This record gives sequence, structure tokens and C-alpha cells, in this order.
Amino acid sequence: MSSSRREFFTMAGAVGLSGLLGGVAPFVRPASAAGSLKIGLLLPASGTYAPLGEAIRRGAELYVKERGGALAGRAVEFTALDDESAPPKAAELTNKLVYGEKVDVLVGTVHSGVAAAMVKIAREAGVTTLDPNAGADAITGGLCAPNIFRTSFSNGQIGEATGKAMIAAGIKEAVSCTWRYAAGDEMVAGFEKAFEAGGGKVVKKIALPFPDVEFQSALAEIASLKPQAVYSFFAGGGAAKFIKDFSAAGLSGSVQLWGPGFLTDGVEAAVGAAGDGVKTVLHYAEGLTNPEDAAFRKAFEAAYGVAPDVYAVQGYDAMHVLDIGLTAVGGDVAKKDAMHAAMAKAKFASPRGPFEFSANRNPKQTFYLRELKGGKNHLLGVAAEGLADAGKGCKA
Ligand code: PHB
Repeated sequence: MSSSRREFFTMAGAVGLSGLLGGVAPFVRPASAAGSLKIGLLLPASGTYAPLGEAIRRGAELYVKERGGALAGRAVEFTALDDESAPPKAAELTNKLVYGEKVDVLVGTVHSGVAAAMVKIAREAGVTTLDPNAGADAITGGLCAPNIFRTSFSNGQIGEATGKAMIAAGIKEAVSCTWRYAAGDEMVAGFEKAFEAGGGKVVKKIALPFPDVEFQSALAEIASLKPQAVYSFFAGGGAAKFIKDFSAAGLSGSVQLWGPGFLTDGVEAAVGAAGDGVKTVLHYAEGLTNPEDAAFRKAFEAAYGVAPDVYAVQGYDAMHVLDIGLTAVGGDVAKKDAMHAAMAKAKFASPRGPFEFSANRNPKQTFYLRELKGGKNHLLGVAAEGLADAGKGCKA
């Protein structure tokens, strides 16, 4: 048997390729091949989440650059595809990276719907996968698997942290206003659970189709309801527009605007003074005093000429987790069980603070309360310390 046929049969047996590719039998390079390590990046490079994708890629590339372009002795080669934050395109693009490009490691993505479709394929293929943003609860819940890691947060987890912080701030009544898809729905569910457990009441849930930015009727409804606060998940270009429209509608003076930190991260300059006073909760903040953050911020600004945000940290940490796994197996990604076990045990000092996974491979982490003022997300305090997500349904 030729070596290429032997390699194919080895891989096909392991991952059930024929089912996924409808009987097409591609040549698959053995994962242990020496030489460069191929990392597939499935990230948005267009649409409202494009800046988030760019920050993640920059964070990941910076980590590797700081190590001379190699991890555990393997030169790193990135291959990126634009997922456009479009769930219907996710399966085809993931298959392209896993079976077309034959990447050793998959990193993606920003949008929960795209990520859930990606993870369904990745867990079947057994490819080492790191989610550097998307919060879909299922990824570290019902879809969890030993090869799936998340270096960001889960939607329910950050919703819960924000609900707790709003209760602690004395808020009793809120309206939620988000995009209607897994991220918005699950962040609101986590928020509502914690907020109502603390005695608060969600009086109205407003949801818009993703990625709509026509906020006028939602803002008119908020103005007529006059709640004490609005809890809002938008991100990227949509978040910048929501904050500006909220302020232009004259609501900033009478209604507190709160949300997960995605509402204000990366859009500080775009919103200017319209963002002053917006309070958010996130696993990152400006003004942290750990040395890893100081070094990270300096290196990121030197490399790209802009300050990093939470997305950059999540991309940087994805490479750190991978580095820990690769180092444990001397760079041999074929030793998946040992590599994944080492990754699951990863414990290190991230720019965000101490990083570790809970049993479902989602970060157990501290969430900070921040206030946007003068173009910076100022640290006000800790909203939830060492918070793990519920990881419902994760048995692997
Ligand atoms: C998500 O779809 O999970 C998502 C997108 C953008 C964010 C956060 C979460 O900023």
C-alpha cells in the first residue's frame, strides 16, 4: 500500500470522513507530520463583526510572533477564511479548513450560530479546536467534547455576572434589548435568572434580527416604558450605533445603559462622549494591574498601533492554551489525548488575570464591572469572582 493510501485509511478510520464528505476520499496528511503546524482561522473579516475577527487574529498572531513564529518547535502557518458571521456558510467553510486545508488545529469563531455549526463538525473530526469568542452555551454544554476548548466565556455565564452586578448596583427593573439569536437569547436568559433571583424584574424583552441596526422603534418603546435600566447585547458596528442612537434619543440622562462588555469594547473611539456612563461587565478591563496585562498591552500597541480589547486577549490566550498542549507532547499533534489533557489542565497568568478551565473546558474566571468614560472602559470593581458556567449537558 502506498504511504498516502495508508495515511488516508488511518485518518478515515479515526474520523469517519466518508460520511462527512459524501463518499469522497481525500488524501489526508497525517497529523503528526513534521514541519509547520497549520492553524485554520475561521473568523469574520466582513460585516458587523469584522473588527472582532481582526482583533482575535492579531492577538493570536502576536502570541506566536513573540515566540519567534513557532510553538513547541513547530513553525506556525495560519490559514484564514472569512465566515461573514453567516451560519448557513459555516459547515462548508469548516469542512474546507478541516478536510481541504487539513489544518492541525481549528480556531473559530465570533458568532454563536457559526461556531455551533463549526463545533458539530470539529467534534466529529476530533480536530483540536479553540473557540476564541462565540459564547453559545451548547459549545461547552451539550456539544462539549474533549477536543473542544473555549478561551472566552459562555453566554449564560456573562449574562449571570451582569445580572448580579446590576442587582448589586440597586437596579430593580430593566428592559432587555438585543439581537435575536443564540448570543442575545442566552445572555438575556442568564441575566434574567440572576437578576430575578436577586429580586429584580425584567419588564420587557425587545429583540431585533441580527445584524439589524434600525433601533428607532426599540428606543421609542424604551422611552415609553421608562425603565430604570436597559440590559443590552450588541457588538462591533451594531454596538457603536446602538450607543449613539440611545444617546441621541435623549435616554442617557434618565435610563441607565448596561450590558455585557461587548457593548463597549472596541467601539470606545467610535461612540465618543455618547458612551460616557455606559456600565458593562466583562472578563477584561482597562486598568488591571497584573504585569502580564501591562506587557500584553505594550506589545499589542507596538505591533498594531491600537490598544487591544477583549477579543485580542481571547485570541492571545487561545494560542497560550494550545502552546501548553503542544509543549506537553513535544509538538506532536497526533498525540491528541495527551495534548487535550494538558490543555484542559492549563493554568496561567492571562492579561485578564488568572486563567483556568472548569471541567467543561470553558474558562472559570473573574468578571469586572467597568464604566465607559472619555473613551476608556474604566475598572470599577469585581462583579463576580471565579465564576464557572453551568456547563449543562456536558458529559465528556
Ligand atoms: C456571539 O455570537 O456569541 C457573540 C458575538 C459577539 C460578541 C459576543 C458574543 O461580542
